[in-house]
Amino acid sequence: MTRMKVRKAVFPAAGMGTRFLPATKAMPKEMLPLVDKPLIQYGVEEAVAAGCEEIIIITGRGKTTMEDHFDRSWELEAVLEKRNKLALLEIARSMSKLAKIVYTRQAEALGLGHAVLMAKELVGDEPFAVILADDVVDSKQGCMKQMVEAYNDTQSSILGSEVVEGPAISNYGCLDCTPDANDPRLLLVRDMVEKPKFEDAPSQNAIIGRYILTPRIFEMLETIKPGAGGELQLTDGIKALLQYEKVYGFSYEGKRHDAGDKLGFLKATVEFALQRDDLGPTFRAWLKAQNF
Ligand code: G1P
Repeated sequence: MTRMKVRKAVFPAAGMGTRFLPATKAMPKEMLPLVDKPLIQYGVEEAVAAGCEEIIIITGRGKTTMEDHFDRSWELEAVLEKRNKLALLEIARSMSKLAKIVYTRQAEALGLGHAVLMAKELVGDEPFAVILADDVVDSKQGCMKQMVEAYNDTQSSILGSEVVEGPAISNYGCLDCTPDANDPRLLLVRDMVEKPKFEDAPSQNAIIGRYILTPRIFEMLETIKPGAGGELQLTDGIKALLQYEKVYGFSYEGKRHDAGDKLGFLKATVEFALQRDDLGPTFRAWLKAQNF
């Protein structure tokens, strides 16, 4: 078998972001900033750090601010240059240099599986990463980088996975799996189910928004029927893939924040701000002085 590198990362970003209304009525949820950087930029930087050279963003209506964000802004650059604000100029330019970014549209929000299928032609016949930008993973090594290493060892699809408490499992894809004998971070997947009832969940191992998938997934996504919530689910596509290939769950090093949820977003904001050299010390002192 020819060993292929994971060179492309797909970002499904056509959802309506209903969990974050009213902020997401006219603004994509992927553009919500954690401190001063939009969610999608954290994801793109993670993909680039993992070795991905091409970023494929699946967009929909009202999502053009994402394209502007990763493009050059000549007006802004001219103003910053004139005012000699060179550090800011570098920040403004850096986004457009991150990677090759291409966009394709999902005309109808038919589900995550359908969104990923939109990338079929752009991905072609090679393994690829999928990142859901509202899952932000704070990790020393980078979550996707760890997963790419696991892919290189196994040459199989890898799903980021985390153990969640109690009924929370019903918010996720859930893995029926056993620990791999050779690598303690890997879980050999037997079966999977999208958003099970707590009583029916085969485990507490949730899928998080990080995937490396083999290109056969596209054939599977072309045949699946609407599943949980009446949507074409990526989980059902990967379940179908299990008939042909091994699939692993992967316990990554790092802390995941569900930044698409208001409380998760607030927690992530505080933690990310506290880690910053420029803001952390004063923010911490301010927090301590408050009488919340
Ligand atoms: C999606 C997937 C689900 C996964 C989750 C991770 O669900 O369908 O399997 O566990 O992302 O965040 P969503 O959060 O879009 O409902």
